[in-house]
Amino acid sequence: MKLLEDRIREDGVVLAGDVLKVNQFLNHQIDPALMYALGQEFSRLYKEEKVTKILTVESSGIAPAIMTGLLMHVPVVFAKKQKSSTLNGGLYTAKVYSYTKQVENTIAVDTKFLNAADNVLIVDDFLANGQAVTGLLDICKLAHAQVAGVGIAIEKSFQKGADLIRDRGVRLESLARISSFEGNKVHFVGSTEN
Ligand code: G4P
Ligand code: NA
Ligand code: NA
Repeated sequence: MKLLEDRIREDGVVLAGDVLKVNQFLNHQIDPALMYALGQEFSRLYKEEKVTKILTVESSGIAPAIMTGLLMHVPVVFAKKQKSSTLNGGLYTAKVYSYTKQVENTIAVDTKFLNAADNVLIVDDFLANGQAVTGLLDICKLAHAQVAGVGIAIEKSFQKGADLIRDRGVRLESLARISSFEGNKVHFVGSTEN
């Protein structure tokens, strides 16, 4: 998606450790018009799928997810992060290990917000190692919900998350796909502007 790639080129900052800082429009300050455009694109890509619910994880996935829900006319559920996996009734939970932050979180969704009648579109801001999305897929499985696919704003294609999702037979649509940060610049998959 050119709009998002252009914005990343303009405002993205490449940090050490292959991290892209996008605090200007996504992870701290949020550009609602850009988020709306992301929602339009996810909505267009998945319009044939009879999606009943958008699922994301707090906090940065919520902005693109809510715009997608607005445009697809379905509710948005965000999994909550919990410090420890305390035994709690009425929750679907999954463990998510963050390689970036080197912490294990448990994410949880109340059983009343997801069930076997749902066809879920998972939306998130970043796809790196795929642990967050894997956790959300696990939660859908626990709920016996169908998964229509995954919609990602920014995929770091050189990390293992994208393959991990496709290997599970799940449709993945990423709006910006980064092939490398060579020379501290953002290079996109298939782009000639690199
Ligand atoms: P994974 O889910 O793909 O395995 O991601 P990983 O554990 O590697 O990353 C942990 C957190 O860092 C996630 O946010 C993820 O979205 C974010 N992240 C990963 N790579 C980048 C990057 O290059 N730039 C930025 N800005 N974020 C990145 P989180 O811990 O769930 O936090 P939140 O921001 O959603 O609250
Ligand atoms: Na994040
Ligand atoms: Na996220």
